[in-house]
Amino acid sequence: MKTFAVEEVAQHNKPGDLWIIVDANVYDVSKFAQLHPGGVGVLTTKSVAGQDATQAFYGLHRAEVLQRPQYARLKIGQVQGQEPIIQASPSDNSQVPYAEPTWLSAGYYSPYYTESHRRFQKEVRKFFMEVVYPDAVKCEENGKRISQEVVDKLCENNILAMRLGKGKHLEGRTLMGGIIQPEEFDHFHELIINFELGRLGTRGYVDGLLAGNVIGLPPVLNFGSPEIKNKVVPEVLSGKKFICLAISEAFAGSDVSGLQTTAERDGDFWVINGTKKWITNGMFADYFTVACRTDGAYTVVLVPRSDEVETKAIKTAYSATAGTAYVTFDNARVPVQNTLGKVGNGMQVILSNFNHERWMIICTALSAQRRIVEECLKWSNQRVAFGKPLNAQAVIRSKLASMIARVEAGQNWLETITHQMNNMSYNEQSDKIAGTIALLKQFVTKTGRETAEDATQIFGGRGITATGMGKLVENFHRTSPYDAILGGAEDVMGDLGVRQAIRKMPKNARL
Ligand SMILES: Cc1cc2nc3c(=O)[nH]c(=O)nc-3n(C[C@H](O)[C@H](O)[C@H](O)COP(=O)(O)OP(=O)(O)OC[C@H]3O[C@@H](n4cnc5c(N)ncnc54)[C@H](O)[C@@H]3O)c2cc1C
Ligand code: HEM
Repeated sequence: MKTFAVEEVAQHNKPGDLWIIVDANVYDVSKFAQLHPGGVGVLTTKSVAGQDATQAFYGLHRAEVLQRPQYARLKIGQVQGQEPIIQASPSDNSQVPYAEPTWLSAGYYSPYYTESHRRFQKEVRKFFMEVVYPDAVKCEENGKRISQEVVDKLCENNILAMRLGKGKHLEGRTLMGGIIQPEEFDHFHELIINFELGRLGTRGYVDGLLAGNVIGLPPVLNFGSPEIKNKVVPEVLSGKKFICLAISEAFAGSDVSGLQTTAERDGDFWVINGTKKWITNGMFADYFTVACRTDGAYTVVLVPRSDEVETKAIKTAYSATAGTAYVTFDNARVPVQNTLGKVGNGMQVILSNFNHERWMIICTALSAQRRIVEECLKWSNQRVAFGKPLNAQAVIRSKLASMIARVEAGQNWLETITHQMNNMSYNEQSDKIAGTIALLKQFVTKTGRETAEDATQIFGGRGITATGMGKLVENFHRTSPYDAILGGAEDVMGDLGVRQAIRKMPKNARL
């Protein structure tokens, strides 16, 4: 690495011969100045040209700008006797207070996580930052579905299988290159995957990263015939085929029982007719796990894509990378063997999915919320207004206090629930924690929207600008209402939790 004295850098201070220092690194911006999105003028001013422009730079750009290859190559060396101090690798855990959950903060303890989780988290963070993040940023912007290359790597590491939770489907699989054994895998490992996904700050892609598999495949795994399971599960978990869950309709959202799609028997076939709305990954799904009406009851049927199945994109406020679809079944014929569970037992199949889906949404929503807390702590520290950093203002610190308290409360509640999931049977979970999961989902989505509002104020104009400094805040502010609706609307969640508590009121309870 070439080194330069500060005095030498200072010689290069005019258009055509222009160097600057950012975080002890020397950049030759002589040619780049003409292309600079912020203009030439700002680079040739006296306080910047040939000078240490670190503070000015970080007041206006995200650190990742200098990591983009086209800008990284402007670096020609380092200042003699100085070392860069800005955290370089996005794969490292953040040192900013509250940016990581307590268990990942140096010097803190947790009763839930072991060495296995720590090892796993390091690998998963690295994988998500190096392999997934560049694809997430691209797809979030251009609306294309997740690239097959990333899907293949997710499958190589068995991340799609791990996202279904612990269980038999992990047997014999090599998890993250063998860093943990399938029998070690528990819901905290799964939480780690969801957290790394949520913190990418690209909400459309969070669903685009095959949320349809996470909610559409369990009914096949738990209720499909051996023939169906043996065919479909390996196809989906190897990333060769995609699946989605199709319950909601224009006629039925919160009130699932209002669904109108029908499955009628014709010999050994079901004939499916109807429409489904807001189906995540529906645009590129090969299989649809469809809730249907059959003779006054409900039955879930696995419907493969065919000419009788049409998918149309729904234009949502988040990125089309999620593949949200309006699905029409027009006399789609499906063998009766594709029934998932017993005929007429569809409501049980549908309900069996909800706790895990809601828990997953809580994980990704909470880690996205925490990422916003980190963004605000950093920004309010580096943005100078009225001659002081923003965090010198009591009103800003008060907003930060509320944000921190909200995310920490959600995290602690989530970890308690995850611990119960690790220790309870499926039936115990339905009985004891379905209501609590619903209440936590309501809490995390309500607090998420409060944090989105506070963060937007703290970031000012940048908080509503889709690129640059505030891009994560803008994405979160635009998309945090999603988690308050999909997987069960917020008010319905709160009501469900309280109704479950009321059912459990002891008969002898009196004031
Ligand atoms: C982006 C996106 C992706 C989705 N992905 C899928 C998917 O993959 N598969 C799938 O099947 N579905 C999916 N959904 C559908 C989702 O589950 C429903 O939108 C959700 O259940 C709410 O239904 P609804 O939108 O019809 O609202 P409605 O049921 O019409 O409710 C409207 C409002 O009324 C309130 N409300 C309704 N009933 C009550 C009540 N009893 N008490 C108090 N308040 C009430 C709700 O809080 C809600 O805010 C998705 C939705 C979105 C937006
Ligand atoms: C190697 C050095 C630099 C590179 C590679 C660079 C790159 C960029 C890029 C990519 C943008 C677009 C916004 C974004 O993506 O964040 C931008 C905007 C900008 N840059 Fe730079 N820049 C550099 C140095 C500087 C310096 C030293 C200043 C001095 C003040 C500056 C001032 C600005 C301004 C004012 C904007 C517009 C910001 C806004 O719209 O809010 N840049 N720069």
